[in-house]
Amino acid sequence: MKASQSARMGKGVVERSITWVIMLGAASLFAFQATISSQSPSAATTVTRAQDPGPRQDAMAAGGPLAGLTPQQAEYFNAGKTDFAEAEEVDEGIGPRMNLDSCGGCHAQPAVGGTSPAVNPQVAFATLNGGKDTLPSFLTANGPVREVRFVRNADGTPDGGVHAIFTINGRTGAASCAIPQPDFATAVKNNNAIFRIPTPTFGLGLVEQIPDSAILANRAASAAAKNQLGIRGRANFAVAGRTVSGQTNNNGNDGTVARFGWKAQNKSLLIFAGEAYNVEMGITNDLFMTEREEMASCQFSAMPNSITDMDATDPVASMSSIEKFATFMRLLAPPAPSTTAPGGAASITNGKALFQSAGCALCHTPSFTTSASRIAALSNKPVNLFSDLLVHDMGVGLADGVSQGSANGREFRTAPLWGLGQRLFFLHDGRASDLVTAIRAHASVGSEANVSVANYLFLSERQKQDLLNFLRSL
Ligand code: HEC
Ligand code: HEC
Repeated sequence: MKASQSARMGKGVVERSITWVIMLGAASLFAFQATISSQSPSAATTVTRAQDPGPRQDAMAAGGPLAGLTPQQAEYFNAGKTDFAEAEEVDEGIGPRMNLDSCGGCHAQPAVGGTSPAVNPQVAFATLNGGKDTLPSFLTANGPVREVRFVRNADGTPDGGVHAIFTINGRTGAASCAIPQPDFATAVKNNNAIFRIPTPTFGLGLVEQIPDSAILANRAASAAAKNQLGIRGRANFAVAGRTVSGQTNNNGNDGTVARFGWKAQNKSLLIFAGEAYNVEMGITNDLFMTEREEMASCQFSAMPNSITDMDATDPVASMSSIEKFATFMRLLAPPAPSTTAPGGAASITNGKALFQSAGCALCHTPSFTTSASRIAALSNKPVNLFSDLLVHDMGVGLADGVSQGSANGREFRTAPLWGLGQRLFFLHDGRASDLVTAIRAHASVGSEANVSVANYLFLSERQKQDLLNFLRSL
């Protein structure tokens, strides 16, 4: 070993240049040149096979309000939380088609506002209150909450829309309604159904307050490192201006950067709340005034079902439900990471450095800062979300064939990783419940993350364990 080399190893860093040949997809071979900067193991303990340590069991690290709210702001937060968790019924306007009866049923883990819980509430909901719905094959008691989109219409043109799973047929107050559920069995058989699981809403007021300019500046940053990981030898990145940093998905009407949802398809929490109330629960509101299913024999509540109460004197009570939902999500604190669990502080610190050196952080940007806000608790605050809020080509393996805005059928928003420590299902369709599977799924023909995954696979088992411990500490 050369003196210079051993000196560097003494500092705990080994630089290696390797030519990678990895098998991707069924039979495709790609050669990658990757420069790997890998940290020394955190401890002497050997790890034969790195494993996802599983969801963190320590005190619930999410679900409370932002620090520093005024008493009045806290009152809005609490009113929003109550409404977000509340189950709605036929006389309150649910349906005629819906995917569940409350925001909080889908956004539940590890607290109200989060993601899919361990037991899927959609299973019991199929027959709740006299419901007569058939449970489609892709919903199981221990699987994730899912909504379904169809890729194509019957005539082959692009569809991409959400097809609600359940109906109000036979439920209390809806005796006369008899509408068929969509034919999910045929859609599944024809590979025409794709799934989405709920994304968590913790800390989203902070995300909403990140200036577009910061997202665009971060996109342009570290260009050399991004090129090195994503471009070399890859024809599909020869397009002028195209880098591993991907693209923004701009809002259709005002051209600003949309950032919510699996494809960054939505601009604001209020729009998402209005859309979710309409699409997930079938409740028309101030933003979505008309029913998706207008069958006359299935309407049992005045329209729009839920709007601003102009007769209420109390300002909180007068707010429409969608404003309450948006306010609740806006004021939800971000998930609190652990500095010691799982695996101890040294392992987590080392895992964080490996996350950087393997190139994960080139997409999963550790932190942004909010702009000045009228709400002090959101003003000039760090947003440690681990996402660049850009959409990336994730290759044929993760492709869903659905376009939303300028995000195409292979592109997804870099999933924010904060709160990962207590999440149960991963990737847009919930196909993974193990972090190792989720990381490996990043690699397939055409994915911008291929070299980064190769870097991960190249780590020693001890190093992989440190990286996995870091992810579960978030
Ligand atoms: C049937 C389950 C279900 C219900 C009910 C539901 N959601 Fe969601 N939610 C989802 C899914 C699935 C996504 C991801 C959708 C996508 O990106 O295509 C999501 C995403 C979101 C997001 C985007 C967060 C982000 O940053 O990506 C917000 C905000 C949200 N939901 C709010 C709500 C609100 C408010 C309600 C109640 C009105 C609600 N949801 C009801 C399943 C549900
Ligand atoms: C090219 C950008 C890119 C790189 C590089 C990248 N990711 Fe991701 N990551 C994504 C996108 C996009 C998703 C969402 C994909 C989907 O759901 O289909 C994601 C999802 C994830 C998830 C699942 C999160 C969830 O809530 O479902 C984990 C865990 C993750 N990434 C970890 C990593 C690690 C560890 C690395 C480095 C080895 C890495 N990623 C490198 C873009 C990237």
